[in-house]
Amino acid sequence: MKASRREPAAFADAARRLSNRNLKPIPDGLRSTAVVIFGPPGAGKGTQTQKLSELFSVPRIATGEMIREEVRRRTEFGRRIEKGLAEGQFVDDETIFGMLERRLRREDLQRGLLLDGFPRTAPQARQLESVATQFGIEIRAFELKASREVLIRRLSGRRVCEKCGAVFHQESEPPRRENVCDDCGSELSIRDDDSAEVINPRLDIHDEATVPAIRELTQVLMRQGRKVEPIDAEQAPESVTRNLLERLRNE
Ligand code: AP5
Repeated sequence: MKASRREPAAFADAARRLSNRNLKPIPDGLRSTAVVIFGPPGAGKGTQTQKLSELFSVPRIATGEMIREEVRRRTEFGRRIEKGLAEGQFVDDETIFGMLERRLRREDLQRGLLLDGFPRTAPQARQLESVATQFGIEIRAFELKASREVLIRRLSGRRVCEKCGAVFHQESEPPRRENVCDDCGSELSIRDDDSAEVINPRLDIHDEATVPAIRELTQVLMRQGRKVEPIDAEQAPESVTRNLLERLRNE
């Protein structure tokens, strides 16, 4: 199932304005660049990578969505990790490497790609460096930053459509009919790991495991004269997209 996110009119208009602005044009692809979007749960990684994937026509690899799909399909792997996932636990690095390798074989990396949720640990960051070297691709990395208060509000109000992958928010992006997907009419649900008792532990796990991954990738990028670029993710979604696009356009 292909995940899709709802595109409110305001977002679509903003995207059009972004495309028409008198800046360097959006390139056809990301030209052999792996764009990594870091950020804690609820920072907007999915929202932003989905948008950039549409604008650049490049594939988006979202490890969290791949994992949830395994759970939905009740595969052996999905059944094994279901409980840990609902508690916010990470999947082990070896399994993630295997999943990613299988997926990368399907993609033309010369066109570039967007990474949402990978790397998430220091070993995963080193794995990305080795994949990038192997395929001769450049890495750009951004970190979406938002306060814990904002993240909790976003995660506790998120509603998702398991059928078509659309994402809503009770306050900032409510569906037209309560609890019903605007796109396919299915009933909306709350992600298991968005329950009140799991949100805080998930944010702690992010700080413990992913902050070292960001540090590791920073070391890699420093050798290339780059860094992980911070992005204020507390702004409206279209402002965050604009900010990312401007950074991507300006080498
Ligand atoms: P994953 O699916 O990647 O979850 P996450 O990192 O917890 O991130 P979220 O999907 O919760 O948030 P997001 O940043 O994408 O925010 P969104 O755009 O939806 O991973 C799930 C799990 O899988 C992990 O916990 C782990 O167990 C496992 N996993 C995945 N990758 C792994 C790996 N590499 N290694 C090991 N384990 C792995 O936005 C959130 C809400 O806010 C939405 O309602 C949205 O509408 C709203 N919103 C977004 N942006 C804005 C904005 N700017 N203003 C107002 N509202 C906004």
